[in-house]
Amino acid sequence: MAVLPVIPCGALAPMLFQGQGEPSAGRSRASWLRRVVPLLVMLLVMLLLVVLPARPGFALAEHQGGAVLFENHCAGCHLNGGNIIRRGKTLKLAALERQGVNSEQAIAAIAAAGIGQMGGYESVLGEEGVGAVAAWVWQQAQAGWPRG
Ligand code: HEC
Repeated sequence: MAVLPVIPCGALAPMLFQGQGEPSAGRSRASWLRRVVPLLVMLLVMLLLVVLPARPGFALAEHQGGAVLFENHCAGCHLNGGNIIRRGKTLKLAALERQGVNSEQAIAAIAAAGIGQMGGYESVLGEEGVGAVAAWVWQQAQAGWPRG
């Protein structure tokens, strides 16, 4: 999802550079472009830096934080979204949906309070940590987890 705002930049850049290759494009126009394009790119980057963290679901840092928290607190039993203790209760989309765990919030509830043989992690992760790790797990489940 975080990729979405980047697409306009990718689409824009070729449009801005198009004129340069054409023989009809005068020198002044080319140098004008050379001066303006880096400015535009810089502005876009600054805009993205300001806009991205402002939207909770899209925060890149949150997802990276979720990955690290997962590595430290969950991967011991759930390596690559599996489950070394109860083989059927994995974090893969099909298994989660079978248990009715089909949202970030449902995963967060389990991460916080635990379920069956799994203890809760709210006291370790805090509310924010639980949210970040749940967001990452849900994203990975939908993306199919890395194989291995
Ligand atoms: C000590 C091993 C262990 C650790 C560490 C662990 N889990 Fe689990 N997890 C389990 C077990 C066992 C189950 C199955 C529980 C049951 O239903 O009896 C489970 C189930 C789950 C489920 C439900 C899966 C399903 O298919 O129903 C989710 C979601 C989950 N864990 C998330 C997490 C998250 C997020 C973390 C890290 C904060 C974590 N777990 C850490 C052992 C662990």
